Amino acid sequence: MAGAGPLSSGALAARAQTDERYTREWLNNQVAGGYVNYDAQSGYYQLPDHHVPVLADEDSPVFLVPALEVAASLWMDEDKIMAVFRSGEGIAWDEHHHRLFCGSEALFRPGYRANLIPQWLQSLDGVTDKLARGARVADIGCGHGASTIVMAKAFARSRFFGFDSHGDSILTARERAREAQCAANIEFVVAAADSYSETDFDLICFMDCLHDMGDPVGAARTARSALKADGSLLLVEPAARDCVSDNINPVSRMYYAASTAVCTPCSKSQQVGLALGAQAGPRRLGEILAEAGFENVRTVAETPFNIVLEAKVH
Ligand SMILES: C[S@@+](CC[C@H](N)C(=O)[O-])C[C@H]1O[C@@H](n2cnc3c(N)ncnc32)[C@H](O)[C@@H]1O
Repeated sequence: MAGAGPLSSGALAARAQTDERYTREWLNNQVAGGYVNYDAQSGYYQLPDHHVPVLADEDSPVFLVPALEVAASLWMDEDKIMAVFRSGEGIAWDEHHHRLFCGSEALFRPGYRANLIPQWLQSLDGVTDKLARGARVADIGCGHGASTIVMAKAFARSRFFGFDSHGDSILTARERAREAQCAANIEFVVAAADSYSETDFDLICFMDCLHDMGDPVGAARTARSALKADGSLLLVEPAARDCVSDNINPVSRMYYAASTAVCTPCSKSQQVGLALGAQAGPRRLGEILAEAGFENVRTVAETPFNIVLEAKVH
């Protein structure tokens, strides 16, 4: 058990630099919700071990606390979301409350740290060898650069470009790269998925962002023309099956909610406004990539939160 101890000593509250009465009331809320156990005889509060990865370990790939930051941002934006439900218009990424940007970063980063190098890149045809030797990589819709930084730290000989249309996210990404001491082989640039000028990439990544775009086919087509002939596209999307009746589970419930309030409005705020949704599923994603001109598309990995597709130019 983690965090066991009677609260009456005040130690737990002092450690967390919180007022003891607030802490106790908050803990009681966690007990009532089933997240924390309470032993009335000893006065001990206990976080069960199997709750730690989800609630308390920031490095765990299933750490879900930042999802509440995302949810909080949606309440801040409630009026805007209600308005577009009625008007059918969109909400651009930069029109959301800033809690969305840090919330998404913190929610996705543990999954990138755990899976991106040892699982996802490994599952692509010959890509890790190229990256180890020195390759050119673009991370489209990179946000705060969580995935770009994971790759840049692992492959110091390669050159990484992070592109995102949201200027404030790019500023934060540059700051994150400096903090991670890997700014030397990363360039973060404000650019939309169809407007960057760099080419000759060995690998182009779309991490949890293709469905946010108004024109995912156009974005994938641009990527195809920016890749070398033997280049690879890595598409990481929220875990989903092809049909809504196969997406009846807590993870899809979370993703459909975010998709309704963030991803669909973001797509509708842009040209084309396809509104693919965060639960499109592998078949629809494959169709998008095929329409963009990719010949070989396959699902290469799955985790509880993501599906991962590879697409090759030839
Ligand atoms: C859900 S966030 C994911 C960010 C990042 N890939 C990650 O995994 O942390 C979606 C990102 O896509 C970006 N985006 C949306 N439409 C875009 C477009 N057309 N071109 C470039 N970036 C876009 C947004 O600004 C946002 O940073």
